[in-house]
Amino acid sequence: MSSEGNATRSRVTLHVVSSLDGFIARKDNSVSWLEAKGSVYEAGVSISEEEAATFLKAIDCYVLGSRTYEHALELGWPYGDTPTVVVTGTKLPSIRNTVEFYSGDLKTLLYEKLAPRYRNIWLVGGAMLSQRFLELGLVDEIRLTIAPVLLGDGLRLFGGSLTEQRWALKNVVAYRNGFVELSYSLSTA
Ligand SMILES: NC(=O)c1ccc[n+]([C@@H]2O[C@H](COP(=O)([O-])OP(=O)(O)OC[C@H]3O[C@@H](n4cnc5c(N)ncnc54)[C@H](OP(=O)(O)O)[C@@H]3O)[C@@H](O)[C@H]2O)c1
Repeated sequence: MSSEGNATRSRVTLHVVSSLDGFIARKDNSVSWLEAKGSVYEAGVSISEEEAATFLKAIDCYVLGSRTYEHALELGWPYGDTPTVVVTGTKLPSIRNTVEFYSGDLKTLLYEKLAPRYRNIWLVGGAMLSQRFLELGLVDEIRLTIAPVLLGDGLRLFGGSLTEQRWALKNVVAYRNGFVELSYSLSTA
């Protein structure tokens, strides 16, 4: 983890998909913009379903904000049977026994509840919760996937009041469908 806790065990990865102009959701919440359409980037890679499944299996826990949770319920549950923690101050319906709800301090969530149990922790949005994690220095890696589309309007990925932080580029993967994944870790420079 970035600053406290068991540094060798847990790692928090913020994963989010953004449009070219920095939005992660349309105002009406529709998600068609996330579908790959149009031209193929010949030099890009593609991953098989088996590779994707193997990758997802390595994720020990998902963390998400309540609005992302509610949207996921509408769209169809994307997190399988992987333990999932929803951060909320309200009472929300629980749909599966792999989901638990958390209300309170986010450092306590990470250091006392998650880190002792999970190694590969994925923070999957939305903007509000991600910004809070970043402000508190709780993110070890940012995996930002850029979709080849301009949305013009919507929910800003980093629309809050973050202060300057330097991140070091660790990897770039360009996909045949035109999406690009950028991986960063917090720079110590
Ligand atoms: N493109 C992508 O990769 C991506 C990824 C994820 C989500 N999204 C989209 O983003 C939208 C949701 O994002 P969002 O920024 O509006 O909301 P969000 O971050 O998903 O959820 C915000 C809610 O989380 C709870 N919360 C956040 N911080 C908290 C804290 N420190 N303590 C307690 N509770 C806290 C609050 O819930 P309560 O109000 O219940 O207390 C708050 O209203 C959806 O449209 C979703 O589909 C896109």
